[in-house]
Amino acid sequence: MFKIKTIVVATFILISQQLYAAQSVEEIIKGRKAMFSENYQNAKKISILLKSKKIEEAKPLMKKISDNYKKLLDYFPENTKEGFKTEALPSIWENKDEFNALMQKASDDMLKLAKAIDTADDLRAVQKELMWSNCSACHSRFRAPH
Ligand code: HEC
Repeated sequence: MFKIKTIVVATFILISQQLYAAQSVEEIIKGRKAMFSENYQNAKKISILLKSKKIEEAKPLMKKISDNYKKLLDYFPENTKEGFKTEALPSIWENKDEFNALMQKASDDMLKLAKAIDTADDLRAVQKELMWSNCSACHSRFRAPH
């Protein structure tokens, strides 16, 4: 009798743990996609603002993108390589240090950009250098063609 109870309880714990883990993977993958999408929306807003020289309005968006990149460092655990329509490539986990370094650089560059726009002559060029080039540098190696 005691044994059966133990087995039932153990099985229940195992199943609930797996359900919990499955849900976390979904939350993590969907969470990172949402942050990348938000960054993209904010990057486009920044371009529009800077076209009309609205420098001060663009700065908080740069900070927001930088913060999202920092959070994203924790959104690629080993158990999130597949599922939920992820476009993350296996190369991320084969080159984790390099991937994290690119993410950190992208984050740092957004803060540099917020400073550089005070004095930059060519706002388009500085955006390309410190914002857009980091997207393609990472996607070309670590995101599946879409
Ligand atoms: C250090 C790497 C890295 C950088 C920098 C980066 N991305 Fe990505 N991005 C990824 C990866 C990896 C994915 C795939 C995530 C997934 O599907 O799980 C992705 C996905 C996306 C998506 C799709 C989100 C969705 O809903 O599926 C968009 C949009 C995007 N990135 C835009 C950008 C833009 C714009 C920039 C630059 C401003 C940028 N990314 C910078 C790695 C990066």
